[in-house]
Amino acid sequence: MKLGILFSGRGSNLGALIDACADPDYPAEIVIAICNNPNASGIATAEKAGIPLQIINHREFESRDTFDAALDVTLKEAGVELVCNAGFMRILTDGFVSSWHNRQLNIHPSLLPAFKGLHVHERVLTAGVRISGASVHFVRAEMDEGPIIAQVAIPVELDDTPESLAERVLACEHELYPMAVRLVAEGKARVQGERVIIEGDPDMKAAPLFIPPLGK
Ligand code: GAR
Repeated sequence: MKLGILFSGRGSNLGALIDACADPDYPAEIVIAICNNPNASGIATAEKAGIPLQIINHREFESRDTFDAALDVTLKEAGVELVCNAGFMRILTDGFVSSWHNRQLNIHPSLLPAFKGLHVHERVLTAGVRISGASVHFVRAEMDEGPIIAQVAIPVELDDTPESLAERVLACEHELYPMAVRLVAEGKARVQGERVIIEGDPDMKAAPLFIPPLGK
C-alpha cells in the first residue's frame, strides 16, 4: 500500500514508519512525505532516508481550502492510497477529510476519546488518571476523532512529569503506528459503523491493544 505521511515537527513517528517500510515483508511503502513547516527537524529524517519529500508551507496559502487542495493534489500525484498523519498539527478541512474517508490515519498520544488536542500529558497528570496511552484511528472531521484501530495502554507512575510520560508514550507510539498501518494495508482493519473490526488470524486479533511491561 502506498503511504503519504503528513508531519509538522520532530518526525519521530515518520522515522518509525520509514524503519518499518524498510523491511521487505512490510506491506506498505512511503511514496511521499509532506511537511507544512519548513523548520521542522523531521525534514532531516526524511532526507536521510531518501524518501520523496515536499515542503508545503501553509503560511504561503490564502486559506485552509487552498492549502488542503495543494496537499490533495500532491498526495494524488504521488499515487498515495493511505494518508498517515504523524504529528501533523494542522486542522484539515471537512472537504479534505471526506475525500480521504477511511484512507487517512492519525496517531494521538492518549487513550482516545480521552484527552484530545494539545498538552495531553500535562492534562493526564492533572486529571490523576492511572493509565494513559496512545491511539491510532481513522480520521474524521473533528480533531483526534474517528474509528480506533489500535491502542497501547501505559501505566502512569507517581513521579511522572509530562516529559517522562511523553517519552514512554512516544516509544510505544513507534511500535503502535507501524502495527496499525500493517493492519490497514493487509485489509484486516475494516470500518463497520464507526467501529473498526479486526479480521484475520488469532495473533492479529490480539494486536489492536498492547500493554507494554512496566517501566517501558
Ligand atoms: C506524537 O506524540 C503524536 O502522537 C502527536 O504529536 C507527536 C508528534 O511527534 N500527535 C498529536 O498530538 C495529534 N493530535 P513526532 O513528530 O516525533 O512523530
